[in-house]
Amino acid sequence: MKKSILVFVALLGLGSVSVMADEGADLYKKCSACHGAAGEKSALGKSKIIKDIGAAGIITALKGYKDGSYGGPMKAVMKGQAATLSDAQITSIAAYIAK
Ligand code: HEC
Repeated sequence: MKKSILVFVALLGLGSVSVMADEGADLYKKCSACHGAAGEKSALGKSKIIKDIGAAGIITALKGYKDGSYGGPMKAVMKGQAATLSDAQITSIAAYIAK
């Protein structure tokens, strides 16, 4: 009994990760012009390679651009990009890029 509950919970977890990644793929479309289709480019020659900074790094950066606590000389560009994203959408994007 306990085992089947564990398996069920694990499957549920996997399911929600893939749903998040789908939403992330959609949301990431507008980012790819600067960051590359898979987050492999340095945006405008200034940003880090975002696929290499990990999901946590992406989440910290996007939330920080929103509240002004993160960023380099070109953070104004990213504030515009991140301002309208919810925390849940930020998590989805991070799951997609750092897959
Ligand atoms: C117009 C080009 C452009 C678009 C579109 C854009 N970015 Fe950026 N992004 C940049 C630049 C430039 C930086 C570096 C900004 C700075 O100086 O902090 C950056 C930085 C970042 C960073 C932090 C990396 C670092 O250098 O610390 C993340 C994460 C990120 N962008 C994610 C995204 C996501 C997700 C989207 C789509 C919602 C997006 N970006 C859309 C240009 C862009």
